[in-house]
Amino acid sequence: MTPVAVFPGSFDPLTRGHEDLVRRALSFADKVIVAVAVNITKQPLFTLDERVSLIRQAVADPRVEVRSFDGLLADFVRAAGATLIVRGLRAVSDFEYEFQMALMNRTLAPGVETVFVVPAFDLTYLSSSLVREVARFGGDVSRLVHPAVEQALKRKFSK
Ligand code: PNS
Repeated sequence: MTPVAVFPGSFDPLTRGHEDLVRRALSFADKVIVAVAVNITKQPLFTLDERVSLIRQAVADPRVEVRSFDGLLADFVRAAGATLIVRGLRAVSDFEYEFQMALMNRTLAPGVETVFVVPAFDLTYLSSSLVREVARFGGDVSRLVHPAVEQALKRKFSK
């Protein structure tokens, strides 16, 4: 069996924490599909195309595919022939929502397992929303995101 894992999210934008999780997922999956959600409840800072393009620039690995998806994650995972969903767990506060999602996805797609991955300790405080906020007010995010993402944030907030 060659496990394929889907790593879904909003990625608005991708952070070093996400990159770390992709690397860790590659230690147990042969292929990782980074799945960028089209329909996210919040109004995104970056368009779907921008989010996909930034991930492709930051994660250049032949075993990683970056795709967008609309609708249910469970349907996307099944159509992609994947058997794993990878989600990051940074703190206890993430747990309740993640637990609910994992059980709902199991109901919708039995046989697909959600795997929780803990990021590197020095990245556990990181989130896309914090990165957006720091960048919005001109703070230095160079250690928190890939240079392509840093430049994209600068362009967004210089307008
Ligand atoms: O990065 P996020 O915002 O935490 O990602 C959440 C995401 C996109 C993975 C989740 O909202 C999702 O799976 N959306 C697709 C619609 C869906 O399947 N909803 C039911 C989830 S149980």
